[in-house]
Amino acid sequence: MSNYAPLEVTFVKGKGCYLTDTKGEQYLDALSGVGVVGLGHCHQDITHAIQTQAGELLHTSNWYRIQHQETLAKKLCQLANMDTVFFGNSGAEANEAAIKIARLHGHANHIDNPIILTANQSFHGRTMATLSATGNAKVQNGFAPLVSEFIHVDFDDIDAIKAHANNANVVAVMLEPIQGESGVIIPANDYLNQVQAICQTNDWLLILDEVQTGIGRTGKLFAYEYNSITPDILTLAKGLGNGMPIGACLAKGKAGRLFQPGSHGSTFGGNPLACKTALTVLEVIEKDDILNNAIQMGEYLLSSFKSKLENSSKVLEIRAKGLMLAIELNQDCSSLLNAALDKKLLLNITGQSIRLLPPLIINKAEADTIINTICALIDDV
Ligand SMILES: Cc1ncc(COP(=O)(O)O)c(C=O)c1O
Repeated sequence: MSNYAPLEVTFVKGKGCYLTDTKGEQYLDALSGVGVVGLGHCHQDITHAIQTQAGELLHTSNWYRIQHQETLAKKLCQLANMDTVFFGNSGAEANEAAIKIARLHGHANHIDNPIILTANQSFHGRTMATLSATGNAKVQNGFAPLVSEFIHVDFDDIDAIKAHANNANVVAVMLEPIQGESGVIIPANDYLNQVQAICQTNDWLLILDEVQTGIGRTGKLFAYEYNSITPDILTLAKGLGNGMPIGACLAKGKAGRLFQPGSHGSTFGGNPLACKTALTVLEVIEKDDILNNAIQMGEYLLSSFKSKLENSSKVLEIRAKGLMLAIELNQDCSSLLNAALDKKLLLNITGQSIRLLPPLIINKAEADTIINTICALIDDV
């Protein structure tokens, strides 16, 4: 089906921050498969874990206990300060689980038509419920009737959330800590703290969608660690499997007890292969001090772009947290996608912004290549 419009390039091999195409040409991947391969392509420990596990056991069923799933659940709960986990295969599925838990929470409180507050310009996935939660008409276009009911409020506007405090049908607030797909939109430092306070006062669940920001992307394992909060529900995917499909919906307290046997499920979710891979991802992040590298390289990219582009009349703003970075121009820059490809650099264009999500293992020389290539591209735009 033609729901994608791929660039005219096919990659056949990857190593670290580089991909090789069918002609043997090397590209620097500053997008990591849209924030997925944080540890780089074909990391030796990940490849080894997949190969070994594939030789032992791929799949049984959630009708039996699964050792690696239980170990991964314990590890994730310990790292994220959560109590329970549901495993699916993608970010959208993790968010579907979160939405279903929010509805159960509402029904437990005798609310028949539960409402979830989400943000304008948010992105939560492409299934019917998650595209309904998404605050972007382009994603929803053509798919009416949408799943009700989500009320979209302005992001980073605490009063917009407070305005619904008297609505007895609201059961949850669902947000990305930093909006990724809309171009790395970073809220005020205190925003999430204030959102959590409102949620606690009103018995609303705070759902944080960390599908993109989680697993080290911002320099912390979870972006919410930049605040003094713990969400009721946390969703993860992308970087958790470094390319192996896996999604996770973690929950705390009463939110973690609402699913009962039969409430929800997934045939593939939490299978031994995906869970062993994710466990290895978490081990490598710890062992190789990956978060520290993400912070150092994130600061290096941001400060270098700021100093090199400070006099550019074309640059409106540079936004970054860890290795999640956007350079917003004062004009359409969609032509830069192919121009960058010609220069053997992979990046994303979101609206008027150049968006970068490089592997968390990136080194200074690779960062320099990204900086120099992008500054030259902006000069020529
Ligand atoms: C914040 C966020 N949530 C959810 C999703 C959907 O994840 P998936 O494509 O794995 O379903 C994405 C994907 O870009 C995302 O960035």
